[in-house]
Order: sequence, then structure tokens, then C-alpha cells
Amino acid sequence: MENTRNITEDLIYIGASDRKIALFESVYPVPNGISYNSYLLKDNKTVLFDTVDKSVEESFFENLKYALGGKKLDYMIINHMEPDHSAMIKRTTELYPDIKIVCNQKTKQLICQFFNLENEFENKFQIVKEGDTLNTGKHELTFVMAPMVHWPEVMVTYDKTDKILFSADAFGSFGAINGNLFDDEVDFASLIPEYGRYYTNIVGKYGMQVNMLLNKAKNIEIKTICPLHGLVIRKNIEKIVEKYYNWANYKSSKKSVLIAYTSVYGSTQNTAEILAAKLAQKGICDIKMYDVSMTHDSYIISDIFEYSHIVLASTTYNNGIFVNMENLINEIISHNIQNKIWAFIENGSWAPVCGDLMREKISQIKNTTILDKKVTIKSSPDKTAKEDIVKLAEAIINSLN
Ligand SMILES: Cc1cc2nc3c(=O)[nH]c(=O)nc-3n(C[C@H](O)[C@H](O)[C@H](O)COP(=O)(O)O)c2cc1C
Ligand SMILES: [Fe+2]
Ligand SMILES: [Fe+2]
Repeated sequence: MENTRNITEDLIYIGASDRKIALFESVYPVPNGISYNSYLLKDNKTVLFDTVDKSVEESFFENLKYALGGKKLDYMIINHMEPDHSAMIKRTTELYPDIKIVCNQKTKQLICQFFNLENEFENKFQIVKEGDTLNTGKHELTFVMAPMVHWPEVMVTYDKTDKILFSADAFGSFGAINGNLFDDEVDFASLIPEYGRYYTNIVGKYGMQVNMLLNKAKNIEIKTICPLHGLVIRKNIEKIVEKYYNWANYKSSKKSVLIAYTSVYGSTQNTAEILAAKLAQKGICDIKMYDVSMTHDSYIISDIFEYSHIVLASTTYNNGIFVNMENLINEIISHNIQNKIWAFIENGSWAPVCGDLMREKISQIKNTTILDKKVTIKSSPDKTAKEDIVKLAEAIINSLN
């Protein structure tokens, strides 16, 4: 198939996209599909950078064959051993028997686990460590370890000759490749929210490790980023690196309020609407509101990364937190979302308890501020509750200033 594209004279995109997949990693809705990127370097030696998911197997092998144009395949570098990129390692090794699999020791171990290998590929591995290089003729490739920039075995590869960073899952995004492979061929700014949803949900928990990678990257000149999902980035490198820096350090880009509520009969929603109106009346812009039962957590999580103030409003449910809110809170905790200011609204008809339960959970997160003012609703907001909403709005505004 000829849906390959040249990135440089000797580097070719041979990945493929899936637009039928409903949930990436069985969790994340991908309404615009997803791409699985793979690259072929044709130097004196030929080098394949990662493979693809099994859903695009046939396209990948057609592309690989076409791009090789009769040359043999010498190396396969595995930057990330997660099956969305590595599903074709075994078949590739079998089809191109002279190949060397270039990876680190941890990756080798995972490859053997995933493919249930005993010793069949033993002589095929070439194990690399931090700073090791591979010379392919014109190009010199350097390996840089990036543990936990999604998985523990992750590394990235830098092509010193053309200043290209093969960044594994870092700098990737949801969304298929629609012919336009490069960031300068699309309206890149409009895609930033999807870069955010991808980063925050998939790698967001590992801010510290992402920072370590960003610090290593500071010392090298990067002209092109070739990630494992999404566009090849060459025009907006500074912009996306800055975004990553903010996300990795849990820096809120918006000084405003995100209100996430759950509501069965409408009263908790009504309370959230009253609060939003009071805040807006006091001049707060860009307020965001989510019905947690209606929007997938991944969208709310990525917006929480951006907002400075988060209000969670829930109905009490079987003496606990409403189920969808509880799921969201578990996601927030597992993504370790720091440096936020939180407030809580609870509703309950006989024994409202979820406000304190939510507070207890959120207070486990490092560097968290919780506003003292809690609002309690009993079935629907009465006079006291309405006064408390006004007080909560004031407390939020004070802390915003
Ligand atoms: C399945 C279910 C379980 C509930 N469990 C509790 C509870 O344990 N304690 C309580 O005070 N209210 C409980 N409630 C009542 C709601 O929390 C209460 O009616 C609240 O006002 C609903 O707010 P809403 O109008 O925003 O849906 C429960 C309601 C439902 C539907
Ligand atoms: Fe991954
Ligand atoms: Fe991935």
C-alpha cells in the first residue's frame, strides 16, 4: 500500500490508523480514531522504529514491504513494549529473519513474556543502555531511557544526524492520521485539547518522570518529534513542550472554576447552577460545568488539569458518594492531580455524608488545598443552603484573587 509518507529523504512513515475502535485501551473514547505510528529509516542499514497494534496489521506489513523497496530489514528498535505498538514484533522477526531487535533489558524481558518466548529469539537481541549509540551509515542513533513515561521499560531514540526524537508515547495524541501527517498541515491549536486528554489520562500520573525526560531533552536540539500516536511535530515543538512542562508540573492554565456534579432528580445540578451563576456575576469567566454521569471521565480529568479551582457536587448514595462521582474521584487520585483548590457540595435526603467522604479522599493528594466552606443540601436547597452557596462563591473568589 502506498499510504506511506516521507518525513525526510530517508525516513518514512509506515504507520496506520484505526477509526473503528470505540475505546482505546478499553477505557478512552476515541471519536476521531487513533493512529499507530511506525517509522522506517533507510540508511546503509535499515531501521524500523517500533511496530503497531494488531488492528492495523495488514496495512503495516504492506507499508513496510513497500517502503523497504526490496532492501532487507536490519534493525528493529523497540522504544515501548506496550502491545498497541509492539504487537507485530514476532511476525516482523519471523518475516525478516536477519533482523536485530534493539531494546533495553527490561524490554527484552517483556517481549519474552508477551510472546511467550523461550529461547527462539535469543540471538536476535541487541541490548542497549542509556547513552548507547547505533551507527547506521549516515545516521547516529542515541538511546535515552524514559522509565514510566507510560511504562517502566520506555526509552526514546534520538537521531543526531537529522535531529529527530522518536519519543514513544510522549507528545502523542488520540486521533487518526488523515493523510496530513505533519503538525503544519493541520490546525494544530485546535487539537491541543486532545493532546491534553491523551497526556493527562495516559501519562498524567507520572509528572516527575516526564519532567526528567523534558530535562534531558533540554540539552539536545530537536527539529522533529516522531511519536507513536498522532502527528509528526516539527513546527509546534516549543508549544507542545511548554504544554508538557505545565501538565507535568500540575500548573493550571486557567484561573477559574470547574464544577463537576452528579444529580438524580436535579437538585444537586440546580445547586451547581446557582453557584456558577453567582461566580459569573462576580466576574469569573470560563467556568466549566460537567454532569459526571454524562461526560466520560477522561474529558473531565484533562480539564481538571487546566483549572485552578474544582468544585465537586454529589448526591449521597447508599451512605456513600454517588457511584459515578466516586469513580471520577478515584481517577483523580490515581492521576495524582496536584496544586488544585477544591470545594465540596453534598446532597442527601436523610443523612447527607458524601461531602466529608469526598473531602477525605481528595485530601490524600499531595499539595492540595481544600476550602473550609462546605454546602449541605437536604433534598433541595433551602434558605440556609442558598446562603451557604453565596459564602462558598465568596470563598472561591477570595482564593482566586
Ligand atoms: C439509590 C439511592 C440511594 C440513596 N442513598 C442515600 C443515602 O444513603 N443517604 C441520603 O441522605 N440520601 C440518599 N439518597 C437520596 C439522595 O441523595 C437525595 O434524594 C438527594 O437530594 C438527591 O439529589 P438530586 O436531586 O440532585 O438527585 C439516595 C438516593 C438514591 C436514588
Ligand atoms: Fe503506552
Ligand atoms: Fe501507545
